[in-house]
Amino acid sequence: MKAKYRVVVVGMGKRGMHHAQAFQSNGRYEVVGVCDIDPARLDAAAAKFGAAKGTNALQLATEVKPDVFCFCTLPRLRREMIRIGIKSGARLIAFEKPVALDSCEGMAVRKLFTESGVKGVVSHQHRYGEHYRKVKEIIASGALGRVHTVYGTASGWMMHMMSHLIDYTRWYNGEAEAQWVMAQAAGRGKLSDLHPSPDYIAGFIQYANGVRGIVECGAGAPDVPEVDYWWRKCRIGAQGTDGFAEVLTGGGWRAVTKLGASSGTGCMNYDLDMPPYVQEIADWLDDDRKVHSCNFESAYAGFEIMMALCRSAATGGQVALPLTGALDEVELLRDHLVERRVLLSTPVNAKEYGAGSEEPVLLAAR
Ligand SMILES: NC(=O)c1ccc[n+]([C@@H]2O[C@H](COP(=O)([O-])OP(=O)(O)OC[C@H]3O[C@@H](n4cnc5c(N)ncnc54)[C@H](O)[C@@H]3O)[C@@H](O)[C@H]2O)c1
Repeated sequence: MKAKYRVVVVGMGKRGMHHAQAFQSNGRYEVVGVCDIDPARLDAAAAKFGAAKGTNALQLATEVKPDVFCFCTLPRLRREMIRIGIKSGARLIAFEKPVALDSCEGMAVRKLFTESGVKGVVSHQHRYGEHYRKVKEIIASGALGRVHTVYGTASGWMMHMMSHLIDYTRWYNGEAEAQWVMAQAAGRGKLSDLHPSPDYIAGFIQYANGVRGIVECGAGAPDVPEVDYWWRKCRIGAQGTDGFAEVLTGGGWRAVTKLGASSGTGCMNYDLDMPPYVQEIADWLDDDRKVHSCNFESAYAGFEIMMALCRSAATGGQVALPLTGALDEVELLRDHLVERRVLLSTPVNAKEYGAGSEEPVLLAAR
């Protein structure tokens, strides 16, 4: 056990700055290096954290030899960064969701972790929110009776939001294994985004404990009118024989059980969610038995579900898990998604997905 773990953070955008700040404030870490290809961001971060700086992650990490290699670049970069982290001798690699953009990359990344023995942590940090934890506590108490359904919806698109929805619904379902999925998707607009996604995807998950998972992301997902901030329009919860409990990312929690209705406050907040997330990294480095809640294997199980949903949406039918054979699921969606305008669940979504409330237009038969 070290008094202070040395950390390198790569990608000093929004999330990189959050991570570096949380490590710096914790007391168990020293931010020894920061990296970005954007010189202005790099200089600002190096000055703020008093760390060595570099535009080349491999060079910087090789020089400063971190215990924790953290990267918060956009999702296209995963395998390369994990290779660099392993090469640098880091004992733990922390990175942002999604695990990868396709199963080809995801499977390669998993192999790197398995073969190297390096610990991996993926940032699904919403789960530390008091309202998320309250719902978990109600479900775990048995107050819902026999849980038969876990569900999650988000207005944001898949590569941004599905990773979160699946992670928290799996958590609410005791991290049960998934056996198969089936999905539908619509709208090609966001396939060209940096988080490439169908405009709308909805799917079912069969869990080994018999619980049904239902997830929806994007243009057609139901509005959460209780929440104003668009990115926090997410409803995640569980239903059982005796009631339900659910969290709204930007709007507290509520439950109805045999004891009556109850509710409470809470809103997703990076400043509150990051400290426990980075604390668990030190705990896991200190003691192998204290496995991080957001450990890579758990995140990978959720990632596999997301990729299986894409395969089903692209080519139809049920898709069994675990996945076999590596594929580029985004390419598969590009090949199969019809060029028909997505329909919206609420005009509020028009800003991101276009005015889809009019009649669908068949632009071309594929
Ligand atoms: N967990 C969450 O709640 C949450 C919230 C928002 C975003 N994210 C995820 O975080 C990741 C980053 O998102 P962001 O909003 O911080 O993006 P951002 O664009 O603000 O930051 C990314 C940074 O990476 C830098 N970069 C790109 N390539 C690089 C390279 N090769 N070497 C070094 N730096 C490089 C860019 O210059 C940029 O500064 C994404 O995967 C996104 O999905 C997670």
